[in-house]
Order: sequence, then structure tokens, then C-alpha cells
Amino acid sequence: MGGGSVSECKEFLFKVLVIGELGVGKTSIIKRYVHQLFSQHYRATIGVDFALKVINWDSKTLVRLQLWDIAGQERFGNMTRVYYKEAVGAFVVFDVTRGSTFEAVSKWKHDLDSKVKLANGGPIPSVLLANKCDQKKEGSNNMALMDNFCKEAGFLGWFETSAKRYDPFGSQILCYEGD
Ligand code: GTP
Ligand code: MG
Repeated sequence: MGGGSVSECKEFLFKVLVIGELGVGKTSIIKRYVHQLFSQHYRATIGVDFALKVINWDSKTLVRLQLWDIAGQERFGNMTRVYYKEAVGAFVVFDVTRGSTFEAVSKWKHDLDSKVKLANGGPIPSVLLANKCDQKKEGSNNMALMDNFCKEAGFLGWFETSAKRYDPFGSQILCYEGD
């Protein structure tokens, strides 16, 4: 048989949403994850932004995560149905220093589940992110309560995150002020 050079590398493209109230840190989390950067400067996202994270999953698998960074103010608009289309996963973000952003998590989750479904009709998998944990007061996230909330609200799980301080992926941390 001829030594055909057919590549065995598989590629996947996944559309993943990042949603939650204004200023909770959606853009910052994405910027940290994709570019290893953090800025204190707040510039509200208008509509939607995009970022691509390419992951060499293993030697034969390439994963492209197309991250849809949806403006917090879009919860009050009519466009989320369009933005959510064909997404296969979502992160719902809240800010641990602002209780009102946690209260809005259920509203975002409901918006999500009512507007997008997997091909089999089920809800798309979603994970809750408790962001700005670098500013959290000790013990402010009750683990058992959060686990229970996730179960009842239909989240796969939750994680504390900080776009500012933590670097769970072990890459170099670069901070810059302003643009
Ligand atoms: P919208 O685009 O308006 O929906 O907001 P957003 O959710 O994209 O928030 P953004 O990422 O723009 O962050 C808002 C502010 O919070 C900025 O000033 C960020 O620097 C700050 N911020 C974001 N994440 C963190 C964090 O983990 N820790 C701290 N201390 N500040 C953060
Ligand atoms: Mg933003």
C-alpha cells in the first residue's frame, strides 16, 4: 500500500458563550485566557465580541474554542437569541463583590435555556464562574450553598476565578494599566 500522507489530526470548532451582568469581568476572563493580559480599565462591551482560543488537546486533536463575549447590557435587548444560536456551551459569570450580579445569574440562565438547545433538545452545558475572587471577603462563598444552587439551577458546576490574579493555566501573567 502506498504511504499516503493523509493527516490523522482531528479538528473541532466549539462555540462557547460568556454571559452575565455588566462589569462582572467577562471580557477580562477571556482576555486573560486567550492573551494572558489583564487591565483595570473598564470599557463596556457593545453587543458582542469574539475571541478564538486554540487548544492542542493532544497530538491528534485540535480544538478551536470560539468565545462569544456578550455585553451585559444585552440582557435588556432582543439580540441574545441571535447570539446564542448554535452554541454548545456557556459560562455564566457573576462578581463576588456585588450580590446583585449573583441574583441576575438565574435570569441569564433562564434566558439561555429558553433560547438555545442542543440538537437532542436538552439544555446546553453551562458552568457558573464566581469572578473577582481576589477581592472576596473570607468565607463569602459558602461551598455547600453554591453546590446546591448549581444543582437546582442546572449548572454543571462552579469555579472561583480571578482575571486579575489567578493563572490556572500556568502561563506567564502580564498586567498592564489602561490601553
Ligand atoms: P460588560 O462588557 O459591560 O458586560 O462587562 P464585562 O463583564 O465584560 O466586564 P469587564 O471584563 O470589562 O470588567 C469590568 C471591570 O472589572 C474592569 O475594570 C476589570 O478590570 C475589572 N475586573 C474584571 N475581572 C476582575 C477580577 O477578577 N478581579 C478584579 N479585581 N477586577 C476585575
Ligand atoms: Mg465586556
